[in-house]
Amino acid sequence: MGTYYALFFIISCLFCVSCCVSYTNFAFGDSIVDAGNNNYLPSLSKADYSPYGIDFTPSGGKPTGRYTNGFTIVDIVAQAMGAKTLPSPSLSANAASHATLGGINYASGASGILDGTGSLFVGRLPLRRQIDNFEVSRGEMVRRMGENGTQEFLKNAIFSLTTGSNDIITYFLPNLPFVGNYDVSPTSLQDIMVSNMTLYLKRLHKLGARKIVVVDIGPLGCIPFVRSIHFLPVGKCHEEMNTLIRGYNQKLRTSVHHLNQEMGSGSIFVYANSYDVISAMLQNYRDYGFENVNDPCCGDFFPLSFCLRIGDENEISTSICDDRSKYLFWDSYHPGEAANFIIAQHMLNGDENTCSPLNVRQLHNHKL
Ligand SMILES: *[C@@H]1O[C@H](CO)[C@@H](O)[C@H](O)[C@H]1NC(C)=O
Ligand SMILES: *[C@@H]1O[C@H](CO)[C@@H](O)[C@H](O)[C@H]1NC(C)=O
Repeated sequence: MGTYYALFFIISCLFCVSCCVSYTNFAFGDSIVDAGNNNYLPSLSKADYSPYGIDFTPSGGKPTGRYTNGFTIVDIVAQAMGAKTLPSPSLSANAASHATLGGINYASGASGILDGTGSLFVGRLPLRRQIDNFEVSRGEMVRRMGENGTQEFLKNAIFSLTTGSNDIITYFLPNLPFVGNYDVSPTSLQDIMVSNMTLYLKRLHKLGARKIVVVDIGPLGCIPFVRSIHFLPVGKCHEEMNTLIRGYNQKLRTSVHHLNQEMGSGSIFVYANSYDVISAMLQNYRDYGFENVNDPCCGDFFPLSFCLRIGDENEISTSICDDRSKYLFWDSYHPGEAANFIIAQHMLNGDENTCSPLNVRQLHNHKL
């Protein structure tokens, strides 16, 4: 009898580890992963108009506040992992009810790790505020599930942070009055960003996060916005910016690995390398199915290459490319859905060069 029960327990437990914990993601970050929070803010940075979302099937092609034509990386990973819902924008009315389904998305366009980043755009939620908002959500979970239930639930959830790009972009903006760009050396900027990020990671850990994915910064020196304001010809990137980013990423990776040692085996911090994935797409773009990695699909290259509203007759109209799947960049800042699919596949299934010590699929299946 005892053997029978033991066997039953082992079989049911194998089953439960591999299939029954549903995928929940608490996502933090900037416009790369914002799913609509800036719609609720008095912000100059919004993606709440057409043609944003033109390929986003759940809304039938209507804009949702996502800064791309279709799914974000967070959406794609959630869908691939069989999440019950896409992580819902934290400022939307039904966010609380999503906490125990697919999770909540706290990301906000124009925000960064540092509080001053994005002040030019007025409304945005810096990383600090995003975590404040998670703390509010956590309070609601404790009321519903109790402290122990909440801890147990959060232990299995994936926390992801995709931020830092706007801190770098702000640093390289020309000095304008009232624009808070950071008057420090490149090395100090890297150190300030990494130490602030590390504090926030520890704060999330204290709030119960145990599976945490930290996404690095991509090669921003190659995005159409940066190439256009620096008058860089086709095929040329802003090397000074990319060098600063590589140095930051290296320091971030070291800090993430330190956290794993410091916090012990009860939690896992994953470093996700998007820089090399995007660099490979830029260099060997035809291998990835792209035909254009220089221009945005939406908006022209000069002067500032904004993707403007289409649809209303009286509005200034914008131009969009014929085949959106052939452009790496949707607008002058953001990857299109085709590129997001490739990045998400690397996050999900990548080897240790892309995700270390585990990829997202392994992290989700890992029993703490
Ligand atoms: C919560 O967990 C602690 C420690 O495991 C335990 O002592 C306590 O009784 C639990 N509380 C409830 C309400 O289950
Ligand atoms: C966090 O960033 C601010 C600048 O926004 C800086 O003044 C502060 O020293 C940083 N904190 C840490 C711990 O690095």
